[in-house]
Amino acid sequence: MKKNFGILIAGFIIILGVFILFFVQGREMPGQLPNLSMKQPSDKADNQTIATEESPLPIPPLLKDRNPDPNKAVFQLTAQNATKEFVPGKKTETMGYNGDYLGPVIRVRKGEEVSVKVKNNLDDITTIHWHGLEVDGDKDGGPHSGIQPGESWTPKFKIEQPAATLWYHPHPEQETGRQVYKGLAGLFLIEDEVSDRMDIPKEYGVNDVPLIIQDKRFNSDGTFQYDLGMHDVMNGLQGDTMLVNGAVNPFFEVPRGMMRLRLLNGSNASVYELNFSNNQTFYQIASGGGFLGKPVKMNKIVLGPAERAEILVDFSDLEKGETVQLENNGSEFMKFTAKSESPKEYTIPTKLTTIDKINPDDAVKTRKFVFQGMGPMVNINGKQFDMDRIDEKLRMNDTEIWEISNESGMGMMDGTVHPFHAHGVQFQILDRDGNPPPANETGWKDTVLVNPDEKVRVIATFKHSGVFMYHCHILEHEDAGMMGQFKVGE
Ligand code: C2O
Ligand code: CU
Ligand code: CU
Repeated sequence: MKKNFGILIAGFIIILGVFILFFVQGREMPGQLPNLSMKQPSDKADNQTIATEESPLPIPPLLKDRNPDPNKAVFQLTAQNATKEFVPGKKTETMGYNGDYLGPVIRVRKGEEVSVKVKNNLDDITTIHWHGLEVDGDKDGGPHSGIQPGESWTPKFKIEQPAATLWYHPHPEQETGRQVYKGLAGLFLIEDEVSDRMDIPKEYGVNDVPLIIQDKRFNSDGTFQYDLGMHDVMNGLQGDTMLVNGAVNPFFEVPRGMMRLRLLNGSNASVYELNFSNNQTFYQIASGGGFLGKPVKMNKIVLGPAERAEILVDFSDLEKGETVQLENNGSEFMKFTAKSESPKEYTIPTKLTTIDKINPDDAVKTRKFVFQGMGPMVNINGKQFDMDRIDEKLRMNDTEIWEISNESGMGMMDGTVHPFHAHGVQFQILDRDGNPPPANETGWKDTVLVNPDEKVRVIATFKHSGVFMYHCHILEHEDAGMMGQFKVGE
């Protein structure tokens, strides 16, 4: 009996040791912002940083609207397997919409009736989710709207929200990380009377340019590496090679004048901290859900996974031929060269739009969402995702406060940052740990970074019915179960 007890204790100590190793390996260095460093050692020996020649920045094409009626839009997307050459002479297996990597830009207007036929030419089930779009649950493209290989899905919806830079990506249960990583993602732009009237750069691909920023790991044979090691299971897959619109080391020739950049953090798991190499200031004019009240001057912007920002950068002080680099956390990854004269002069607008603040007194309820656990144990409120379980029930048109806290550090070690996202709704941030949000977070958002040990309160009015997801947008956390479902209406 005594001997058995000894063995039990010894066994327990060994298991405890393994667990401690597991956690210590995956955690960040003390005092360092979590997830910011792109140069983290990978567990894979095969991993290599790609050093390629610079290449021109690809501009994702605008998807053709097949309906001439200005109030109606009909689009077609096909999700397909492909190969693409990222590393010279080597083929990378990819996935793309209507092409070999990423997808075309869907551009619509507020008030428009939109229908998108999505064909699945992959070998696996997929879905297509309109991230940031305010539509009913059956159009939202979450894990319940699976499209089998060879099948198509044609949601129809009306655009009822203001001008914004949104995006689309797949959302199949437990496979979102892999499919997005392989290349399935695209931009979804909304324009309206406010964006029409605003005197800012609007020439798509010329002075209104999207930058879909991602990071990847390549194997030496040129294939994408998506074998999740310990670090990836803990923090999500963070690559060491940056891509912009699918290109490594891109350059873009800009007019010596004002540029509007639509930034999307399209990574699986990395938080980007972006600045220009000459440290020049720029103005954020929009967050994920649309224009801010007024431009916010900055020289560095933090973007979590799935977050978007529109910025105005004035390149008119550059000499002809001068180059400025875009940097992430101090490392250059994209080049802007000032070439032509700008045909038009712009000034930074003083006011952008009116954002009606939702009054916290109108909230009928406060719901709490606690992000806990690490690695395979990540959960919200102690629960991991279950497709057959509705976690939260809401009434139509109710205003609610959602309080999101990140307790994944368990108070003992440095936890992970979790980007919280809710489907089918845009919210406003009330406070971060009781303090008002920074100026660039005072507009509409659908994704918000919640730092370790932080508590963020957001407020929203739920105007669309159906079943929706809320989750961590580190895709490996989402796939591991850090996701729940809320149902609006009956
Ligand atoms: Cu970007 Cu559940 O979505
Ligand atoms: Cu979403
Ligand atoms: Cu997370």
